Amino acid sequence: MPLIALLGLQWGDEGKGKICDILSEGADIIVRHIGGNNAGHTVVINDRKLVLRIIPAGILRPGKLCLLGGGMVVDLNRFYEEIEFLRSLGYEVSPNNLKISPRIHVITPIQKELERRIEDVLGNGAIGTTMRGIGPTYADKALRVGIRIGDLLDSDLERRLKVVCDIHKIENIDVSEVADTLKSHIGWLEPFVEEPASIIRSNLNTANILLEGAHGSLLDLEWGTYPFVTSSNTTVGGVVTSLGIDPRCISKTIGVFKAYQTRVGNGPFPTEQSGEVVEYLRKRGNEYGSTTGRPRRCGWLDLSLLRFAAKINSVDYLVVTKVDVLSGLSRYYISDKYVLNGSELKEIEPYNMHIGNVVPNYMEFQGFNLEKTSNLEWKDLDKGVLKYIEYIEKEVGTEVIGVSLGTTRSSYVSKFSVWEHS
Ligand code: GDP
Ligand code: IMO
Ligand code: MG
Repeated sequence: MPLIALLGLQWGDEGKGKICDILSEGADIIVRHIGGNNAGHTVVINDRKLVLRIIPAGILRPGKLCLLGGGMVVDLNRFYEEIEFLRSLGYEVSPNNLKISPRIHVITPIQKELERRIEDVLGNGAIGTTMRGIGPTYADKALRVGIRIGDLLDSDLERRLKVVCDIHKIENIDVSEVADTLKSHIGWLEPFVEEPASIIRSNLNTANILLEGAHGSLLDLEWGTYPFVTSSNTTVGGVVTSLGIDPRCISKTIGVFKAYQTRVGNGPFPTEQSGEVVEYLRKRGNEYGSTTGRPRRCGWLDLSLLRFAAKINSVDYLVVTKVDVLSGLSRYYISDKYVLNGSELKEIEPYNMHIGNVVPNYMEFQGFNLEKTSNLEWKDLDKGVLKYIEYIEKEVGTEVIGVSLGTTRSSYVSKFSVWEHS
């Protein structure tokens, strides 16, 4: 049975939450494998907007099993709040439909304090993180001093937390309080704890499995615009590491991208615009971070980076979101290549030291006006949208199988069901 990995191809916020919600209708198991509550995945159901930060969007559909993989880092206070919030809305969240890996590292006030200090020291060069303690928690994991969910029962917990404070020279945190808070979660948490790797392996032949990527490929620790990245592997390799599955189990990789480009936080953004265009895109696209509320930086679609992201993830199919946001513009632009020191460049690695110096070459397109954006079939798509899709397919060399024209479920247009084509 298919195992489909859904991954963001830009700097996050591509609309993964919405597409995951759509595709999870056909899935039995939905898995989140990296990051923590630095993510904000929006799903709109019956005019209600929900932003999920830790639990996969599949939790919103009855009868699905959701898993949190060992590559994640979790703030247990926020996790508990998310569970309670979903329950308050009438959704079932119980050990019957949610399992969490004991290998997940927990975020504590120590890592948040460390992050404040790091961003402070970086000053003008700060990453502009979400301040959720994500980076320092992954750093402590790499230093081999982190605390996993499976360690919460450890009688030595307080001493281990003290070691973390000592290493980072943090003196203003009461470790016994941190230990008590962590231990206070054990009661409700324990029934949810089960290693997803074994669940996935034993269901591979009988279940449709969907992996809900987080962040975006250009934020990948290894392949993104380092150092302006997050601290996990957001590209396809992260799936295998987090979940311990055979890479050959991934039947199809679907890459989600926005019809234009946005970024929250600092770092290079070659096609970034200013002035009226940004106001237009930000207003129509509601481009404010779903996690921090920060205005997102906006610009035109960047094919040089999209080609790279499609390649690094071995993307089989593309899904484009927010095409409706371009509607109404008399003209819109796409950068098909860059110019660097007088030479043309079709593709560039995001980590390339020249990424800040490239000059995008813009192709100009006639705008379109969408009259209808919901309950459409592929054959009903506006000619301007089809032209846009054909252009992307030719330039990236990958088929577009889904177009999103709004926030709701009914505004998604699918070429075919990916579950039947995998
Ligand atoms: P994610 O992090 O990739 O899940 O994306 P976010 O939820 O952070 O941000 C995407 C935003 O765009 C959310 O507010 C969605 O409701 C919204 N959205 C998703 N798809 C579309 C679309 O096709 N059109 C419009 N106008 N908004 C969309
Ligand atoms: P979703 O899953 C957008 C960005 C932050 C910052 C950088 C590092 O909703 O697409 P971190 O707190 O992770 O150490 O911050 O990465 N970032 C995101 N931007 N969407 C996200 O997630 C992001 N996750 C991290 O803004 O620039
Ligand atoms: Mg988001």
